This record gives sequence, structure tokens and C-alpha cells, in this order.
Amino acid sequence: MRIGIIGAGSMGGVLARHLAKLGYRVSIANSRGPESLTALAAGSGATPVSVVDAAKAGEVVILAIPTKAVTDLPRGLFANVPNSPVVIDIGNYHPELRDGHIDAIDRGMLDSQWVAQQIGCPVIKAFNNIFAKSLLERGVPRGTRRRIALSVYGDSPDAKATVLRLVDDLGFEPVDGGVLDDSWRQQPGTPAYCRDLEAAALRRALAGADRSRIAEYRAAEEARIRRSL
Ligand SMILES: NC(=O)c1ccc[n+]([C@@H]2O[C@H](COP(=O)([O-])OP(=O)(O)OC[C@H]3O[C@@H](n4cnc5c(N)ncnc54)[C@H](OP(=O)(O)O)[C@@H]3O)[C@@H](O)[C@H]2O)c1
Repeated sequence: MRIGIIGAGSMGGVLARHLAKLGYRVSIANSRGPESLTALAAGSGATPVSVVDAAKAGEVVILAIPTKAVTDLPRGLFANVPNSPVVIDIGNYHPELRDGHIDAIDRGMLDSQWVAQQIGCPVIKAFNNIFAKSLLERGVPRGTRRRIALSVYGDSPDAKATVLRLVDDLGFEPVDGGVLDDSWRQQPGTPAYCRDLEAAALRRALAGADRSRIAEYRAAEEARIRRSL
């Protein structure tokens, strides 16, 4: 399968390395252009391309950029891409630390619903609630005891099934969280956020989240990051 990755930082880089190693044909883009990605390409086996080419590179396209950068993507990026790729949003909204305030999200729109609205096509939410270090180091083969689980949210069962298979291939236990409208359950600071939980514990954490506390969860996560800097 061919996969495009937009964003070549901590998360895009790890995903490119792992996916290329697994045999996927990976194209990767950043904001500075393919010539800035020669080192990553040499080390990963991914092909550096432009953002426009990454968007039409494959059956799956992974958005691995800061939330504030979504509005900088070329207008109509996915409009003319044939066969509607599965778009995975791995982003997290950090208004105070990085992204600045986005009114719609502050008023209650979910992070990934906002991203889908901006890019004009549906997204699957996945990989936002694992740190790059765990993604790099903690994947293990199916059947291994204490395998870390990753949940996936989205409205298309077929697209979600594709992403659940990718999660499994990358060495994590796939958990179908539900529809995109429930994806707040793995937004920043929730009990299921970046805790490296096994499947049963992850399901409990997702179920235990409280929708009325989304902003509070986010603020607590930003405070935690600030303390760790
Ligand atoms: N780091 C983590 O542990 C982690 C875990 C889960 C989720 N996330 C989320 O995943 C997303 C990416 O995080 P990260 O840590 O990988 O960020 P990062 O290391 O800062 O990398 C960001 C990447 O996005 C690219 N980019 C920025 N604006 C772009 C644009 N307009 N077009 C194309 N590429 C653009 C940057 O390219 P240039 O360098 O060329 O500008 C860079 O390659 C964020 O939303 C983050 O919150 C991060």
C-alpha cells in the first residue's frame, strides 16, 4: 500500500521510518520542500515529495503537522485527489503553547472535526494519543503480552478498518473507539491520552472521560507540558 505523510517532524519521521520498514511505499512532505528531506529519506526509505504530491501519494494520507498549520495547507488540497484517500489526523490542539486560539474549537468543535472542516474531507483520528518516543520504541508483534493499545475514531467503517490494520502492523493493539463525534475521548489530557495503556485499560479510560471537561483536560495537559519544559 502507498502512504503519503504531510509533516516530517517527530511523529511524521517515526511513522515514515516504521511504515517504510514494514514495506509500505511512503512519500513524505514538510513545509520547506523535498530538498530539505534528503537526510530523512536516506535514513527511512521514504520518498521526499511536495505537500501536493503527498496528498495524492496513496490510499492513506497522514496529517502530522501542528493544528495551526492546517490552514496553511494549499486550498482544496484533497479536492482533486482521485479515489478519496483515507486521511488520518494525528494532530493535537495546543492553544496556549503552540497553535494560538481557534474560536470554533474553543466553542466546542472537536479537534478532528475542525481539521476535517478545514481540509474539506472526512478524517480518521488516530496516533494523536501516543508520544513519538513510545511510537518509536514500544511496538511489538500481535499476541505479545501487555501490548500497548491505540484507539481509532472515525465515521467510515472501511476507512477505520484500514487504520486499525495500520495500528496493528505498527505493533499496537487496535481498538475501535467509535465515531468521530466521540473522538474527544482521546484529546489532550483525557484519561486515555498518551498513557501507553493495554486494551482493557484503554477502553476503561476512554469510557471514563467526561465530555464537559474537554477544555479542563486540555488546559491540564498544557500545564503538564509547560512544567516538563
Ligand atoms: N510529538 C509527539 O509526541 C506527538 C504525539 C502525538 C501527536 N502529536 C501531534 O502531531 C502533530 C505533529 O507533531 P510533531 O511533534 O511531529 O511536530 P514537529 O516535530 O514540530 O513537526 C511538524 C512538522 O510539520 C511540518 N509542517 C508544518 N507546517 C506545515 C505545512 N503548512 N505544510 C507541510 N508541513 C508542515 C513541519 O515542516 P517544516 O519543519 O518544514 O516546517 C514539520 O515537519 C502535532 O499536531 C502534534 O500535536 C505529537
